[in-house]
Amino acid sequence: MATGYSRIAVRKLVSNPSPLQFSHSYKTTAAVGVTSAQPFKKTADEDIEWNNAKPFDEIPGPKALPLLGTAWTYFPVVGHGMEPKQQIDIIRHHAKKYGKIWKEHLPGGMTLVSTVNTGDTEKMFRLEGKLPGRPGLDAMIKYREDRKDLFESTGIIGNGQDWWKNRKVAQQVVLKAKSFNKYIPLVDQVSSEFVERIRLIRPENNEMNDDFLQELYRWSLESVWLLALDSRLGCFDANLSEDSEAMKVIVATALVFNHLGELTVSLPLWKYYETPVLRQLHEALDFLVGTTMKYIRGAVESLEKRDEVPDEFMSILEDILSRGLSLKETMTVIMDLMLGGIDTTAHSVAYMWYLLARNPEQQEKLREEVLRVVGPANSPVTEKALNRMPFLKGCFKETLRVMPVSISNARITEREMVLSGYRIPIGTTLASCQIITGVSEEAYGKNAQEFVPERWIKGHPLETPKDAYAVLPFGFGKRMCLGRKVAELEAWHVTIKMLQNFRIEYHHEDIDCVSVLISKPNKPLRFKFVDL
Ligand code: HEM
Repeated sequence: MATGYSRIAVRKLVSNPSPLQFSHSYKTTAAVGVTSAQPFKKTADEDIEWNNAKPFDEIPGPKALPLLGTAWTYFPVVGHGMEPKQQIDIIRHHAKKYGKIWKEHLPGGMTLVSTVNTGDTEKMFRLEGKLPGRPGLDAMIKYREDRKDLFESTGIIGNGQDWWKNRKVAQQVVLKAKSFNKYIPLVDQVSSEFVERIRLIRPENNEMNDDFLQELYRWSLESVWLLALDSRLGCFDANLSEDSEAMKVIVATALVFNHLGELTVSLPLWKYYETPVLRQLHEALDFLVGTTMKYIRGAVESLEKRDEVPDEFMSILEDILSRGLSLKETMTVIMDLMLGGIDTTAHSVAYMWYLLARNPEQQEKLREEVLRVVGPANSPVTEKALNRMPFLKGCFKETLRVMPVSISNARITEREMVLSGYRIPIGTTLASCQIITGVSEEAYGKNAQEFVPERWIKGHPLETPKDAYAVLPFGFGKRMCLGRKVAELEAWHVTIKMLQNFRIEYHHEDIDCVSVLISKPNKPLRFKFVDL
């Protein structure tokens, strides 16, 4: 038997308490706030504010009908007639019609209050409790609740104690700087290989085919797989066969994102019986769970064989394993990292390249910085170089402002509060819509709609004073995105590699964001990658 760290890790794994010892403090995500008694006492000022505020029922919004709630607004003629997947247009429509705050009653019984008042956003976050609740990926949570044989909890995407138990461990690992030392050269390697793949699949006229977004998914999947499972999946192999593991994972993850989105905007019949879409989703998830488990078992075996694993050489997976989560819980954390890290990063990079193509002078400024600080193609990107690239960082921040993948941040209130002059009870689902506030003149001045990376550079003449709550692309507080550093690293690296090799052009109709779960480009990414 091995001695040292690996044994400690394994011992912790074995002695992990039974899942039955953990209380499941909620039944549905929407119930989080309601189930906990209000533990907060209002201050005297808050009491006065509450007493002077208008009642909740007076918040403007479409009229709610029995059974249908405000779902009738999706019908043409009587309502706005837009489809649920046109979430962004619907938010724009409501903000214009109702002003700073409005409320809707969604099918399934949830009351959603949306705000475009950044003062409300600040309150929403500042008044969150110890276990902030967020409306969730209901279909994924249902899967985990249905598959009790595979899952001990609903994981980081869940709420209450389930969330905290997993988050607590994941953040100790993912947010610590050391985890990245090992990861940086590997991210660089994946990005270089992606550039090679582009050369391989690029048509003769240099313009990518309509399905180029799928290629970006391969890149983000390969990157997050490496981070979370400490191994290469092989998404860029030129001759991937249909029955290779990589191809099966690519197909299964695409199906998961597609079906999760579809279930989110459809009538919630799948909550009551197994629809074909739900069944396919479960099959794809079963496959991903099985594959992830195989890699985790491999990591445990390798830990058992090794004598001592010093901290700086431990992979993220090994680090998580050594902190006392069971194999099933580790798998849940790993799955959550992967779920959070594929579409989000791919779409942000797509938006950044689109904005750089549409703003060629900004692209040239960025290329100048890349070549000056990092050097020509094949020069490796180091941490030191990244610290000297304010324009690159400004480009990514500006992308997330102008075209955010997360169009709004959401919480379920755990205490009473006053927003935009209205009383908001406990258990209300709130959404602060950064798709509006992020490009408002109020927050970013006359050129709010334009792509100006310099506005993020300290001391630059174009620096814009920021309203900290107008744009929070990675959320805020205890539930803030766990993968921010990962996403930034990946996006910076791959963009540096691209600009070292190609001029990025786009010669078609404007691209906008369309949102189901997260936003995605509404047109094919027919980028032209022209050799420098
Ligand atoms: C540009 C890319 C990304 C964006 C814009 C983004 C954005 C977000 C946002 C807005 C949230 C909710 C935060 C809140 O409620 O306060 C979130 C949560 C989360 N993200 Fe990301 N994310 C990105 C990439 C990633 C990556 C690469 C990973 C994993 C490696 C990841 C893992 C997660 C996880 C696990 C959560 C749930 C955290 C919790 O509820 O405690 N994300 N992300």
